[in-house]
Amino acid sequence: MQKTTIQDFLKKKSEGRKITMLTAYDFPFAQMVDEAGLDAILVGDSLGMVVQGLENTLPVTMDEMIYHTKMVCRAAKNAMVIGDMPFMSYQTGTGDAVRNAGRFLKEAGASAIKLEGGFEVIEHIRAMTRSDIPVMAHIGLTPQSIHRMGGYKVQGKTGEAQKRLLDEARAVEDAGAFSLILEAIPMELARKISGELSIPTIGIGAGPYCDGQVLVIHDILGLFERFVPKFIKRYANLKEEAVKAIRQYKEEVEKGDFPSEDQSFK
Ligand code: KIV
Repeated sequence: MQKTTIQDFLKKKSEGRKITMLTAYDFPFAQMVDEAGLDAILVGDSLGMVVQGLENTLPVTMDEMIYHTKMVCRAAKNAMVIGDMPFMSYQTGTGDAVRNAGRFLKEAGASAIKLEGGFEVIEHIRAMTRSDIPVMAHIGLTPQSIHRMGGYKVQGKTGEAQKRLLDEARAVEDAGAFSLILEAIPMELARKISGELSIPTIGIGAGPYCDGQVLVIHDILGLFERFVPKFIKRYANLKEEAVKAIRQYKEEVEKGDFPSEDQSFK
């Protein structure tokens, strides 16, 4: 199997086949996602919360993103790897935006980058695309804007907000983005946007009519408990399983049952 390309994303949309994507932040998790056959892995700045234990994504740095993206790229044989631009790696200007986006491809081995925002990042998207850096855009709930938005809230609830999101979706496509994440918006709005764009939409909390879906891997595997948004579906309870296994190891060591002769050298 070949590595997924941005052309595959567009082909899947034109054939009405769903695009599958999850986050991963290190080698073993990326290997699992790749082996499961997903189209793409997003090295999201959500790692700030699910890996680093931070309150939000804002403190995550470019160097940390590069470090994690390198690990993921080593594992991803077929899935496309997309690096997520952290807060203040692009908001400071188009030059910074292109330089930092380029690091994901040049230093880490990613095939594309993602950045949050609508009208305010159009120039960045144009400049990155001109520099041969494929861009996934991200509108709706954009976690780096948590302070402006007043929390993690569903976006696009009023007619005016819906019109703005639709216009932003058209603008990012026009600027050259190869796909667009729609986060936490009403499903009918996501349907309308997905129907109007020729690039694929990838939903997270945006209902079933998007061209693909993405979720945070720690959420679907039951490894992050601090809050569980309505749009998460848990497919496993790995934390519970892991604590059980670790407790059993502790008990066996304490009782002298581990290591047995089987785990010892003669
Ligand atoms: O950082 C992230 O993981 C994301 C996705 C949840 C879309 O932006």
